[in-house]
Amino acid sequence: MAFLKPKQAPVPQVDFERLPRHVAIIMDGNGRWAKKRGLPRTAGHAAGAETFRTIATYCKDIGLEYLTVYAFSTENWKRPAEEVSAIMGLLKKYLLEAIGRMERDRVKMKFFGDLTPLPRELRELCERTEEIAKHYDGVQVNICLNYGGRDEIIRACKAFAAACAAGETAPGFLDEAAFGQYLFSAGVPDPDLIIRPSGEVRISNFLLWQSAYAEFYFTDVLWPDFSKDELHRALAAYQSRSRRFGGV
Ligand code: IPE
Ligand code: IPE
Ligand code: MG
Repeated sequence: MAFLKPKQAPVPQVDFERLPRHVAIIMDGNGRWAKKRGLPRTAGHAAGAETFRTIATYCKDIGLEYLTVYAFSTENWKRPAEEVSAIMGLLKKYLLEAIGRMERDRVKMKFFGDLTPLPRELRELCERTEEIAKHYDGVQVNICLNYGGRDEIIRACKAFAAACAAGETAPGFLDEAAFGQYLFSAGVPDPDLIIRPSGEVRISNFLLWQSAYAEFYFTDVLWPDFSKDELHRALAAYQSRSRRFGGV
């Protein structure tokens, strides 16, 4: 069956000298992409993984410093077991390939989220990937895996309380910068631009603390169809905004 492509807006010019430092993406719409084609949802996840490869490589090519992607949320465990295990399988496949290519690709990978409930093999692969990535620079790609913004904030509170109990710090020393050091994103600047494809206009528990002053870009394009052109649209929209951070 042929699919009619929706009319696309022209691709605007992007000023590559004024890129955001940090772009974050909620990679959504894989299931609907598959459904439209009469395919199982897992085929949508496989297509989404391809898109991620393309976009991550392109972000490195244009010199972006940080890319953070939402791959699996703390809420996504509610999905059927077969779908969850297919997603875990795709992540494993991706990481096995990525480890081999890290030196050539100069992509520094990190994981945000609690990796303990993941299948052991995948968890070990994540840890190995992070260990190897320490030796490389280039774009830093943060993969949010079993990640929830609320979970991250609770964990940070517990870690800070534990540090207080151990006499390492005290409540009076807590400020925004100090709190940030207890988050998965410690050391990473806040996202400048958050992109959500798939037509949903919500945050779905993504980077709740870090998104305080992020610019948002929503598009109806489903993640497997997301392209460099769509990224250009998002970047151009970002560049057209006036960021005031509460000032004038
Ligand atoms: C995003 O695509 C991938 C994950 C959440 C793991 P979805 O699977 O949510 O796709 P839709 O929203 O059902 O189309
Ligand atoms: C957000 O997408 C999570 C990821 C993309 C990993 P969801 O599909 O889980 O979000 P909701 O359920 O539409 O809010
Ligand atoms: Mg979804």
